[in-house]
Amino acid sequence: MNDSFIVLGGGIVGLSCALELRLRGADVTLLEAKDCGGQASGAAAGMLAPYSENPESPDEFFMLCRESLELYPGWQRLVRKLSGMDFEYTECGSLYAAYHEADLLALESRLGWQRRHGSSGVILRGEALRAAEPGLSPSVVAALRTPEESHIYAPDFVEALQAACLKAGVVIRERLGALEPTEWERRAEVRAPESGGEAFRADRLVVCTGAWAGAWSGRFGLRLPVQPIRGQICAYEWEEGRAAVRHMIFCSQGYLVQKANGTLVCGASEDVAGFDTSVTERGIARLLRWNKRVLPALETAEPFHRWAGLRPATLDGRPLLGRLERAERVIFAAGHYRNGILLSPVTAKLVADCAEGRPPQPWQRAFRPDRFGAAAAGLR
Ligand code: GLY
Repeated sequence: MNDSFIVLGGGIVGLSCALELRLRGADVTLLEAKDCGGQASGAAAGMLAPYSENPESPDEFFMLCRESLELYPGWQRLVRKLSGMDFEYTECGSLYAAYHEADLLALESRLGWQRRHGSSGVILRGEALRAAEPGLSPSVVAALRTPEESHIYAPDFVEALQAACLKAGVVIRERLGALEPTEWERRAEVRAPESGGEAFRADRLVVCTGAWAGAWSGRFGLRLPVQPIRGQICAYEWEEGRAAVRHMIFCSQGYLVQKANGTLVCGASEDVAGFDTSVTERGIARLLRWNKRVLPALETAEPFHRWAGLRPATLDGRPLLGRLERAERVIFAAGHYRNGILLSPVTAKLVADCAEGRPPQPWQRAFRPDRFGAAAAGLR
């Protein structure tokens, strides 16, 4: 690819797009207002769980998530090789717990369509369930086990991804302060007014600014309804090498995932609180109540760490992914909501395909970044 690119945003999505574009031969400069991986990417529990996170139907969003899960084994191997760094990637499968007999029907219908879409899931009950996950509360009556789901330790993975980008020749500029796209019709230009007005120029622009993309609503003549949804999470200390759980555990109220260092990560709230990343008593108290209902061993445990991240949510819950029709030099890859870590490899692939001029598949039109229409007059 002969074009040069500015990638705006150094979260997992921006770093992944930068790496893939570079590997396909482009000159790439990645610009980050703060530190790479410092926002949603670094705060995430790192679950790669398209089946558990999308229980409703095999819609376009599920298809995107599933395609990304399939890319993960190769993608993480590539990042490991390029960076020379190690990080946790655990293929442990998941259990989705049901507390009432009445919920079984929903689990069965979900299993039906998920098995037609790559899952080898089964519903476990009674002895089989207790043997598979001995610590689970006896009030769990059944669980859908999905062996295909996995998780990654997001902070280490993002660090390795950044190192892989640098090794591959991506230029990374961090701590630039606010970044302003100032030109995108004849070429791409981004200015950093808080860094002496420095200007960056390239042929094309890839916007990967997560929850901050909404701040540019109007900038490209478009409505970009993206807003932050805060996720409060907590973590318990658990002895390294001792399993609190063997699977990732999901229920309608949250999830628990144990990392290789023993830490048991439990999430997450969904609050509208602007860009505030503080944790609240109420948010954490709800998690603690549910954690005990999942794992009785947590009855007297206190989390040692509580934090929050901001998920970038669009109005319809789907990412903004693809080239703008009215501004052909601009590609969007933002608004991945609860699935940024999972969706990073497929996003990088689709952005690079788009940069190479390959037309999107018809089902990918569901993610067109211009689908929310033009900006109100005066905002263009
Ligand atoms: N994907 C998990 C969360 O957003 O909390």
